[in-house]
Amino acid sequence: MALHVVIMAAGKGTRMKSKSPKVLHRVGGRSLLQHVLDAAAGLGAARTIVITGHGADAVEAAAGTATCVRQMPQLGTGHAIQQVVPLLPDDDSTVLILNGDVPLIRASTARALVAACGGRELALLTIALDDPTGYGRIVRLADGSVRGIVEHKDANELQRGIREIYTGIMAAPAAALRRWVMALDNRNAQGEYYLTDIVALAVADQVPVVATRCDDETEVLGVNSPLQLAELERRWQRRQAEALMEAGVRLADPARLDVRGTLRCGQDVEIDVGCVFEGEVTLGRDVRIASHCVIRNARIDDGAVIHPFTHIDGASVGAGALVGPYARLRPGAELGPDVHVGNFVEIKNSTMAAGAKANHLAYLGDATVGERVNYGAGSITANYDGANKHRTVIEADAHIGSNCVLVAPVTLGAGATIGGGSTISRPAPAGQLTVARAKQVSLPGWTRPVKPKKG
Ligand code: UD1
Ligand code: CA
Repeated sequence: MALHVVIMAAGKGTRMKSKSPKVLHRVGGRSLLQHVLDAAAGLGAARTIVITGHGADAVEAAAGTATCVRQMPQLGTGHAIQQVVPLLPDDDSTVLILNGDVPLIRASTARALVAACGGRELALLTIALDDPTGYGRIVRLADGSVRGIVEHKDANELQRGIREIYTGIMAAPAAALRRWVMALDNRNAQGEYYLTDIVALAVADQVPVVATRCDDETEVLGVNSPLQLAELERRWQRRQAEALMEAGVRLADPARLDVRGTLRCGQDVEIDVGCVFEGEVTLGRDVRIASHCVIRNARIDDGAVIHPFTHIDGASVGAGALVGPYARLRPGAELGPDVHVGNFVEIKNSTMAAGAKANHLAYLGDATVGERVNYGAGSITANYDGANKHRTVIEADAHIGSNCVLVAPVTLGAGATIGGGSTISRPAPAGQLTVARAKQVSLPGWTRPVKPKKG
């Protein structure tokens, strides 16, 4: 029978104290909602429905191909499910209910819950917590069978002592779920329609209720506050770090790594502390990333070394290249093999062919740099005239002295040498020395001014 997934995401998230809806806050660079959608995507559902309310426009924009149903106003989790009843089949399909603010649920756990339901039983995902404060408690009869869920605010002292809690995730037979949620009332401490009250209705209907225990707390932790968001972020990062280390990556400290996207690594990669990887990053074999680098949407080929405090965004680094410390590669920077880029060098939308070097304090923007070019300290391309960007072409083996300004568009021929301090605005011929700076003069009769004597 078909599977339908419902993700509840209409709540306000008051404790986040944020303008943004809670489910759009991020863990590991992805929104909470996206994590849940990704887990659901692996289940082969006939349909995925997202219930929206607070910040509905923004949440719906982030819901991808899922069907969105608005819940206005938000009168509780049971009321939320009432809104989707018309979209649910009236048969023994299974409805999996996920929580938009419980992002790290694994597809395998969800699959097991769906199997436990089998379109016949009510399956609740539960966990025992040392501190169950705030959660709905699983109330069992003396024979161990589940009797119901009591919300924290409605629980008596005895019930508050129960450590087994409802995670907010359940799988239910569709037709029965439709019937149960329409029968809910809001006579409780919060005046809300509690989805959790359907458990007692299932028991009354003699539908078996199974509690499936989750053994990994990380999967069922919810996000209600910035503190919980940060805690979940660390757990997510720990998962990333463990997966990388299992694949052979050597991390100086798994607690000081942040992957906000996808990091792929070849064999014998080493990553020092404090690095942040964003988007899609691919590191080849034997790559070394020193401490405190921020690397985003980049490819770094075999054996390249990225020295500390380097910032790479939308760029590629060739095999054996050396970059940094304190280098900045901006979008469109493509470094060939064995290129050297040193401290305080910024490169944007430029290619550097094999063996080219820019080792100190330089800017290359919109430039094509040939093989083995040596680009001196303090030199820049003046690529922007205030309205348009222009290209600079530096052919193979050219040698650019220090403190040059290359006024684009301009071409420097193969093997050209540019004298230090030159401002080059016309083509420099191949193989020649070109110097464009004021001539040096010395004044033989000149004397230094002297201070008048006091008194
Ligand atoms: C809920 C459960 C509680 C469980 C806990 C697990 C109920 C009544 N209680 O409590 O047993 O231990 O989750 O985290 O279900 N939402 C809507 N519309 C609403 C209200 C909420 O879509 O009108 C959504 C929220 O956006 C959220 C989810 O439902 O994603 C849970 O709502 P929340 O208010 O956080 O419920 P809890 O009080 O945490
Ligand atoms: Ca919650």
